[in-house]
Amino acid sequence: MKLKNILLYSVASLLFAGCSKSNTSKMDNFIDQLMDEMTVKEKIGQLNLNVSGGFVAGEGINGNTVPLEQRIENGEIGGLFGMKNVEVIKHWQQVAVEKSRLHIPLLFGMDVIHGYDVTFPIPLALASSWDPDMIEQVARTSAIEASSDGVNWVFSPMVDVCHDARWGRIAESAGEDPYLGGEIAKAWVRGYQTNNLLDAPDNVMACVKHYALYGAGEAGRDYNTVDMSRPKAMNEFMLPYKAAAEQGAGSFMASFNEFEGIPATANEYLLDEVLRKRWGFKGFVVTDYTGIMEMTNHGIGNELEVTARALKAGIDMDMVSEYFTTHLQEAIEKKMVKMDDIDRACRRVLEAKYKLGLFDDPYKYCDVARAKATLGKAEHVKQARKVAQQCQVLLKNDGNLLPLKRNQRIAVIGPLGNSANDMLGCWSGSSEKVLPVSLIDGLKIAVGTQGRVEYATGSHLVKNPELEKILVGSFMGLAKAGNAKESTWRSNGELLREALVVASRSDVIIAALGENMNMNGEGASRATPNLPEPQLQLLEALVATGKPIVLVVFTGRPLELTWADQHVPAILNAWFPGVEAGNAIADVLFGDVNPSAKITVTFPRSIGQIPIHYNHKNTGRPHSADDAPYIRFKSNYIDVVNAPLYPFGYGLSYTTFAYARMKLSSNTLSKDGKLTVSIQVKNTGARAGKETVQLYIHDVISSSTRPVKELKGFKQIELQAGECQIVSFEITSEDLKFYNHELEYVCEPGEFEVMIGPNSRDVISASFVYN
Ligand code: NOJ
Repeated sequence: MKLKNILLYSVASLLFAGCSKSNTSKMDNFIDQLMDEMTVKEKIGQLNLNVSGGFVAGEGINGNTVPLEQRIENGEIGGLFGMKNVEVIKHWQQVAVEKSRLHIPLLFGMDVIHGYDVTFPIPLALASSWDPDMIEQVARTSAIEASSDGVNWVFSPMVDVCHDARWGRIAESAGEDPYLGGEIAKAWVRGYQTNNLLDAPDNVMACVKHYALYGAGEAGRDYNTVDMSRPKAMNEFMLPYKAAAEQGAGSFMASFNEFEGIPATANEYLLDEVLRKRWGFKGFVVTDYTGIMEMTNHGIGNELEVTARALKAGIDMDMVSEYFTTHLQEAIEKKMVKMDDIDRACRRVLEAKYKLGLFDDPYKYCDVARAKATLGKAEHVKQARKVAQQCQVLLKNDGNLLPLKRNQRIAVIGPLGNSANDMLGCWSGSSEKVLPVSLIDGLKIAVGTQGRVEYATGSHLVKNPELEKILVGSFMGLAKAGNAKESTWRSNGELLREALVVASRSDVIIAALGENMNMNGEGASRATPNLPEPQLQLLEALVATGKPIVLVVFTGRPLELTWADQHVPAILNAWFPGVEAGNAIADVLFGDVNPSAKITVTFPRSIGQIPIHYNHKNTGRPHSADDAPYIRFKSNYIDVVNAPLYPFGYGLSYTTFAYARMKLSSNTLSKDGKLTVSIQVKNTGARAGKETVQLYIHDVISSSTRPVKELKGFKQIELQAGECQIVSFEITSEDLKFYNHELEYVCEPGEFEVMIGPNSRDVISASFVYN
């Protein structure tokens, strides 16, 4: 470091470091002084987030032809993202700190969605664990790894609530429930930022996305229009964003979609009124990839106009568009924005850098030795296996086909059975150091010499060969999908013949079917979220053999599995389990681990039911029961019952649990009072197991219509065979509140129904009066 810089940092350290970072007046003074030195161009430069490296989603837009090094030296860049390598990051940090006029360090962002070097199960799978503490530990390990590799800012958590299985990004979410989503959002933020002590060297700043309502795009098509009433938005979708803001997340990312006719990137109501004024969010907001530029496609103005609108609405940083750098100067001259608007945004970005401790030590995340010692550590891989065990959902297990014995002939059949990379799921950036374990490899290790495991591909991934080529390719510089390559040139008939031979010499078939990693995630909506045709045909042929079949489903969304449910005795929904996939699935299939996960999204019985979610309203003409047959002039379908295939909160175990004796401590609840509701849960099976006990509430009469039930609490218990436990929940008026028509957060007197059960369908209920 040059002498001048050393001096500058020593002075900064003397003046501002060593002091508590919570001392905002010190931070304010530091930033005041720094901003006094800055030109308008340098201030705008802080608002510019550039992409570098291949680890990103988007079209690689970067119109500027000046080399990156020069631009950083010129103070035109506030942060970079998409780089994975501490030495590369250190190089760019050196350019910023040693060569730019004011030596302002850069932010280094990264899409760390479910792990960094060690990939954990996809977020939707993690949510199925119903274990926020475990998710916090996943975030912690991700932060430890990412920070060791130079990253100081992660584009996570993704907290979009989604009711629509067609949307590919449901894989990145916690599912359909705002309460559970809020608990999980807080866990992610805690894990990344550990109590907001952002300047600890292994903490990273969280970026909550995609604000707001990105999961509610029309028809499940990515980036599509969102429109809904404000009360619906607040009650059903906004809670996880709010929870993450209240947990102290350092930044937010604006979403691509519009809301009420205004793209989120220019939506003052969302960015200013709700996020900052109502929720008190103090961090900065970055756009999503080219979000400002895309507003010209939305048709709300030319380049100059959309630039001004974004800044004025509350955007602080422009990801990749380069519209702030290109148009803000002109926008000031034309009085479309004020210097104050730029100063405000610049201050927020500098504050983030200050809180991360980058002004004290810009290289605190650039320790090559730490990276070497940390990335892909054996203990992280071990953690990934344990976590993956907790995320697999047993959907069906007729006749206790599972767990399997090892000493038998096992046929693994299906395009996902031998595809290691696919196990990582969307948004994974594991290094070569930590190779993913395919299902077949995991099973072979588990069985050893006790039995025999054979594999056949069985079918193509999808029917259309051109589409299959795209899907098995590499995506945004990430790992190449690992779909068995031979399926790309052999006919379905040939694959099936071979599979039937392998099946014929087996005692049990494990069908490994579903989606590959590129069939979900960003830009991967599916109009028909089911088992693709060639795979379903394979399954039909396997069922026709009469052999016992276990279906292991790989998926990033709730698939329509109705035929499978009717014909296959055992179904394990494995999602994408991460690096330790094969081992963790084997742990569950052979019963070394008793499955306990429960789905946090409703699995539809028919694709026509989508969007479908358990916390729906009642209508004026409700049907008598969800599974009742068709009746005209009731709210139902001619061709399918209302009931989903598997309800929210559902998941089986190798043991069974019985719920009984629900009790309320009182039949009334007052404003400042508490009510205890308890239930007895008994392990009625033959082995120990973990159960997630769920509490739901229904507001029977209120000024606005309310959902038939809403999750308000859950508890996990572990019970030995035959053991019994009383599980209780405390209810206060807080649990009864909702946003009314005037958007006031209220709790209205009257009758409430309280329900407890193992899932959202099979509940026991009682009622009380709030007065
Ligand atoms: C676009 C995605 O929507 C967002 O989730 C991601 O963080 C950015 N690209 C950066 O890669």
